[in-house]
Amino acid sequence: MARDGVVLAVEGVSKSFGALAALTDVSLSVRQGEVFSVIGPNGAGKSTLFNVVSGLYAPTAGRVSFLGREITGLAPETINRLGVAKTFQITNIFPEISVGENVSVASQSRAAVSGRLASLWRRADVEARVTELLEAFGLTAKRDELAENLSHGEQRYLEICLALATEPTLLLLDEPTAGMTPGETRGATALIKKIALARGLTLLLIEHDMSVVMGISDRIAVLHFGEKIAEGPPEQIRNDPRVIEAYLGPPEA
Ligand SMILES: Nc1ncnc2c1ncn2[C@@H]1O[C@H](COP(=O)(O)OP(=O)(O)OP(=O)(O)O)[C@@H](O)[C@H]1O
Ligand SMILES: [Mg+2]
Repeated sequence: MARDGVVLAVEGVSKSFGALAALTDVSLSVRQGEVFSVIGPNGAGKSTLFNVVSGLYAPTAGRVSFLGREITGLAPETINRLGVAKTFQITNIFPEISVGENVSVASQSRAAVSGRLASLWRRADVEARVTELLEAFGLTAKRDELAENLSHGEQRYLEICLALATEPTLLLLDEPTAGMTPGETRGATALIKKIALARGLTLLLIEHDMSVVMGISDRIAVLHFGEKIAEGPPEQIRNDPRVIEAYLGPPEA
């Protein structure tokens, strides 16, 4: 299980796209039950880091371990089955089926591929999970609505439901509040924190909204041009001169 309480260990990971170094020697470790955020300017390598962790990209160098087991280079489906779920920067729901069916499909997806679990995950369990998740995200009244008819904010909520429906150990959220209204952002932040706490879930979060990041995170890592330039609790990151410079640029001469 989690060695020293470390759920995810990223060690010396680099990822290049041709001549472009999207990530350079990035290391971080995320502990059980922690909300760990990755911030940084546009193009800093945040989504690339998530894509390496979730198996979409093989790193050019370095290794990734989940619960003490090396997962570098494993297929995304395999990593997902081990307990890593991910939401995408761009919404990734099934638009032409109902909200309830979306969650139901996601809920069964992990069971369907691992035979031993399949027999344990009965229909009633799936129903209970769907009901619970829709309730938590205020989507109960929209259960029979086609997903494509939801508002943008509701679709993003639904996407988080889909990821949670697979009962992950580690949840990767790539800008979950992107495009949400300020009210939806506050609601989503509170919900994510609450659900993480209730389930003992470990969260790795990419987020642009600094008020969200500062409010929700236990620790924050800052990427800048593919390199990790700082890591620490919110208060330390807020006052770090390199972080301030990365975001605001060098002071005017
Ligand atoms: N599949 C790819 N092929 C080529 N270049 C890529 C690919 N994916 C990302 N990049 C490049 O790698 C760099 C890092 O991109 P990435 O998407 O990881 O940044 P990000 O920090 O998530 O940015 P944003 O805040 O805009 O989402 C960028 O220069 C991007 O253009
Ligand atoms: Mg990104």
